Amino acid sequence: MEFFIEISFIFLFSLVFLYYYFHEKNGIPTNWPIVGMLPALFLNIHKINDYFTEIIEKTNLNFVFEGPWLANMHILGTVDPANVHYIMSKNFGNYPKGSKFNEIFDVLGDGIFNSDSPMWEYHRKMAHSFLSHSNFHENLVKNVQEKIESGLKPILNHVSNQGIEIDLQDLFGRFTFDIICTILMDFDPRSLSIELPSVPPAKALDDLEEIILYRHAIPPFIWKSLRWLNIGQERKHKQAWIILDDFIYSCISNQNSKNDEMDIDVLKLYMEENEKNYGAPEKKRDDDTKFLRDTILNFLIAGRDTTSTALSWFFYLLSKNPHVEIKLGEELEKIMNQTQDFSNNSRELCNKLVYLHASLCETLRLYPPVVFEAKSPVETDILPSGHTVNPNMQIIFNLYAMGRMKSIWGEDCWEFKPERWISENGKIRHEPSYKFLAFNAGPRTCVGKDMAFTQMKIVAATVLRNYRIEAVEGYEVIPDISIILRMKYGFKVKVNRIQGMAKHG
Ligand code: HEM
Repeated sequence: MEFFIEISFIFLFSLVFLYYYFHEKNGIPTNWPIVGMLPALFLNIHKINDYFTEIIEKTNLNFVFEGPWLANMHILGTVDPANVHYIMSKNFGNYPKGSKFNEIFDVLGDGIFNSDSPMWEYHRKMAHSFLSHSNFHENLVKNVQEKIESGLKPILNHVSNQGIEIDLQDLFGRFTFDIICTILMDFDPRSLSIELPSVPPAKALDDLEEIILYRHAIPPFIWKSLRWLNIGQERKHKQAWIILDDFIYSCISNQNSKNDEMDIDVLKLYMEENEKNYGAPEKKRDDDTKFLRDTILNFLIAGRDTTSTALSWFFYLLSKNPHVEIKLGEELEKIMNQTQDFSNNSRELCNKLVYLHASLCETLRLYPPVVFEAKSPVETDILPSGHTVNPNMQIIFNLYAMGRMKSIWGEDCWEFKPERWISENGKIRHEPSYKFLAFNAGPRTCVGKDMAFTQMKIVAATVLRNYRIEAVEGYEVIPDISIILRMKYGFKVKVNRIQGMAKHG
């Protein structure tokens, strides 16, 4: 017992010492013998994005992190637009996802996120053919409208009538989960219903995203040992993997037994391709069902959390900036006028909602749902910032920090100002993707960007026109530690139904 107390005391003392030592060093982590910079990382892991922002501002947009001795952890953290442009576009061929990324994201198998050419090109071609299909946009709008009427509105009305509180992030997560499952597999899990049922595959996705972030932060031999022993976070990872496999494989076998000629979904498209086997890489043909599972899981991750997270932060930012909400109300009233919803002219309506578009971009700048990207060069290279990078190193872009750099966005970079996205002639101001990286840049730019904006605009417009969302006072809203920038404790709100049309202000 005494020994335990002594060890705890020494441990605590070391932590306090390290904490003050870092402060003396102006917030830049010290590279200690043996442990490298790991202590600083562990002490700040609970606020990793703000910590990263603080360091990278002081180190002129680039910072080299050294892990423990022999752990092979050499990381260049960068938010330098010139580096981003170079890596994502100009020298794209030298920066594939690579084997380190594949290991960390092993659950994604041979899906689009985890693959490089020729597999990646195949997925990209398939994704384009689906998303640019002549019926895709109309189908999406129809699905979103139906989900709003059958799922979102009944719950918000109920919450308003009962005067209770609800977690808006949870609602949006359910909304996008139902939509993406319908689009991918023509299967609606109906997670957005008044009983708020538990949704194991959605929870499994949350767990995976959290654990994958930890895999980035600890030396590979540690998480690999935990995986081998099947303990701790890695045990949770394995369980989540099994839940998702069960869910996706059962959707695949249901799809096999369907015989509808009318609708098209991603699963059906890939299945039809399987039969033809045209242009598919060799590896894929070995196990078609596993390949379908990988494909679906990747799209599920891509399309669920990103959009729901963005919507949650959007309403959070509005609760802090009521003047923006008033302006949005005015725009909606002007553009939508007597129109009830987006069933007709959805494309035209969406394009006209410039201030809404600007507010969503501003949300994505401050709270990018995909919070960081990792790359490794195949061959040693010199970046525009002058840093030499080699295949042993990882390069990490932190998108949260990137949106909060004065040298990139100006002195007011911490403010929520949709106006910065609007040009003098009232149109959306284009910002290059290597500066506004929320949807990635270069050949691997997000293929679902239009789909995401369509969904977000319809949901945001409907909620703003019909309800007043009020944040519950004193409820802590902070980012979670995950590869997706969710809110750790969600976003608790009260809802008041607006009687009549769009009364704001
Ligand atoms: C606000 C919503 C969204 C944001 C912020 C977003 C952001 C991103 C980012 C940052 C990447 C690059 C990830 C990486 O390579 O590590 C990406 C890729 C991708 N996104 Fe999105 N996304 C959104 C919505 C969607 C939706 C709705 C879909 C629906 C299908 C989608 C499909 C994809 C796909 C398939 C890729 C992989 C592209 C490739 O590797 O070539 N995304 N997205």
